[in-house]
Amino acid sequence: MANRGVSYDPSVHTIADLKELGCRKIPVMYRDYFNEGAMDLVTLKDNEAAYDRYKIKPRILVNVDNIDLSGEIFGKKTGLPLGFSPAAMHKLAHPDGEAAVSRAAAKFNLCMGLSSYATESLETVAAQGTGNPYIMQLCVLKDRETSLQILRRAEAAGYSAVFVSVDTPLLGRRLNEYRNGFLLPDGLTWPNLLSDGKSELRGAERETKEAQNHDFDPSLDWDSAIPWLRANTKLQVWIKGVYCAEDVQLAVQHGLDGVVVSNHGGRQLDGVPATLDALRECAVAAAGRIPIAVDGGIRRGTDIFKALAMGASFCFVGRIPIWGLAYGGQEGVELAIQILRDEFKIAMALAGCRTIKDITRAHITYLNSEGILARL
Ligand code: LAC
Repeated sequence: MANRGVSYDPSVHTIADLKELGCRKIPVMYRDYFNEGAMDLVTLKDNEAAYDRYKIKPRILVNVDNIDLSGEIFGKKTGLPLGFSPAAMHKLAHPDGEAAVSRAAAKFNLCMGLSSYATESLETVAAQGTGNPYIMQLCVLKDRETSLQILRRAEAAGYSAVFVSVDTPLLGRRLNEYRNGFLLPDGLTWPNLLSDGKSELRGAERETKEAQNHDFDPSLDWDSAIPWLRANTKLQVWIKGVYCAEDVQLAVQHGLDGVVVSNHGGRQLDGVPATLDALRECAVAAAGRIPIAVDGGIRRGTDIFKALAMGASFCFVGRIPIWGLAYGGQEGVELAIQILRDEFKIAMALAGCRTIKDITRAHITYLNSEGILARL
């Protein structure tokens, strides 16, 4: 058929296929850790469902020859307006872990976020890069020295920004971890979390010692966190885990470099709005004064399109590279990127947008309570 796109894998045509087949290869304890979230998973499911509540409004007879899919973040051009959210412990999905995800990101010039709870060192992850931007995620810990050494190391390794998780004064209540008795296997470490540079604590010793040393600092607030971060890093400082317009306003006032509208993939407070719904008010509050990224629930190219139309300047996905990794290591992650890239390109072409800048609120609509298509 003329113009039919390519298929990269006989069994995987969508991210849903990739999730299904990738997750079959992960032990149940780790699969549930990745795929589930806090309490009854209401927010987690709503993150995905929200994308179906909005519709794309295409414009026709627009010249969409030579579509430009590139995005921009931290002043750098990227292959797509899509990057990988920091997500913990990729080696629970595949032994090649974060380094393989990094190689896949580099191949497509994508931005990659690395969790402080990564199972690979931040230096090794960045060393796979080829000029694509890297982000270090940080939870500010009670033990500030541990947080500081992460910042110093990320700077030295050429990271572009730090994403500070601001929605984790305490960890959300993840029932799967209780039900499955979640425990890290021996042999896996968190090499970025060690103030003494030693990463070799094992099993039960690590569970107790590292857990105590690495408690999140629940006393963190705007006035203590932001000046402390600014004084201690030259990296761009973004906050991740912003849920409402009021806090976007405060982020602007505090001179932050960017915000990520995120509910931690539904892993923190269950019952909060889907990120796409939160983005709707957050983007208005940002009013172009601060870049505003979003993650949570993006599973298709059309979802990327809808997030950008809603006002996001950049999109992130956390679980998708994990599913790709589980399915086929680096190649599985590349497969995920190719699927999303092709779907996004078709969405742009069929909606009548040649560049990312052409995607606006005029391209998104929803059915209002009277069943009438409404303008945002
Ligand atoms: C999580 C933490 C580690 O979501 O951010 O599991």
